Amino acid sequence: MWTRKDMLGLNDLTKEEILQILTLANEMKPIIDNRALSTNSLKDTSIVSLFYENSTRTKMSFALASKYLGATFSDLGINTSSVAKGESLIDTGVTLDQMGTDIIIMRHGMTGAPHILAKNVKASVVSGGDGTNEHPTQGLLDLFTIMESKKNFEGLKVAIIGDIMHSRVARSNIFGLTKLGAKVVLSGPTTLVSKGLEVLGAEVNNNVKAAVKDADVVMGLRVQLERQKGGMFPDLREYAQLFGVDKKVLDLAKEDALLMHPGPVNRGVELTSEIIDGKQSAINIQVKNGVAVRMALLTLLAQARKI
Ligand code: CP
Repeated sequence: MWTRKDMLGLNDLTKEEILQILTLANEMKPIIDNRALSTNSLKDTSIVSLFYENSTRTKMSFALASKYLGATFSDLGINTSSVAKGESLIDTGVTLDQMGTDIIIMRHGMTGAPHILAKNVKASVVSGGDGTNEHPTQGLLDLFTIMESKKNFEGLKVAIIGDIMHSRVARSNIFGLTKLGAKVVLSGPTTLVSKGLEVLGAEVNNNVKAAVKDADVVMGLRVQLERQKGGMFPDLREYAQLFGVDKKVLDLAKEDALLMHPGPVNRGVELTSEIIDGKQSAINIQVKNGVAVRMALLTLLAQARKI
C-alpha cells in the first residue's frame, strides 16, 4: 500500500516503492493508446501544475495522464498569475489548497522548493524538477524504459554522459538505478563531471569511450547552457567533438544497447541526429512512458490521500 503524501525525489524511496510504481505504470500504459480501458479512477481528484521553469514533456504528460484517468487538471500559468505580482511560493500553494487542489505538480529553479511547499500545504506535492537536485518522475520513466527493454537491473552497466553537475535527471537516475542493482558510470568534461560525484554511488570516468564500452544503456544529457556560468568548456563544437556521442562511440556499447536522453536534445551537441533517429534510440519511447509512469504515480498518491 502507498502511504507517502508527496513525491520529492528517488533518494527518499525504497527499492520496493520504486518497483511498485513501475509495476503499476506497466498496467497503465495500454490506456494511452486505448482510452476505453480507463476507469476514470481519478474523477474526484483535482490536479494543478505550477511550473516556474519551462517544460514540454513533464507538464504535458502530467496534464494528459490526469485527463486519461478522469481527473480535473489546471495549469497555473506563472507569467499570468499573481506570482508575477510578487506572491510567494507558500502563499500561492495555500491559495491552491483552499480551492480544493489535491495534487500540485511543481517545477522550480531552486533546489528544495517542492520540499518547502510540501511542508506548508495539505495537497500532495510532486516535484517536476527542482534546481540541480532531482527530477524524480523523469528518473522513474527512465527506469521504466530500461525495465521494459532489459527486464531487470541487476548487473546492467548504464553510462550517463554530459552535464552531470547541473543535472537533476542524472541524480534521480543514479539514486534509482543503484537502488535497483545497476552500475552507473558518469562521463563528460571534468568541469561538469568531477570525481566528487562518486559519493552518489556512481563511478566517474572522464573518457567517454571507456565509459560507454560494453554499456547496456547509454544516456546522453542536455548541456544546460541556462545553468552554466561559462568557462565549463570552450564551445559547443568542441564539446560535441570531445564528449558528444555519435555512431562510432555508441558502437562501443553492447550491440543491443539502448540510447536514451530525457529531452529536449541539442541535436549535434550531446548526440548526433543519426543515433537520435536510429534503431537503438528509446527517446520517443521515454516520452510515451512518461505518461504511463505519471498515471501510476497520480493513482498511488490519490489512493494514499483516502487512507
Ligand atoms: N525531460 C524533461 O523534463 O523535459 P521538459 O523540460 O520538456 O519537461
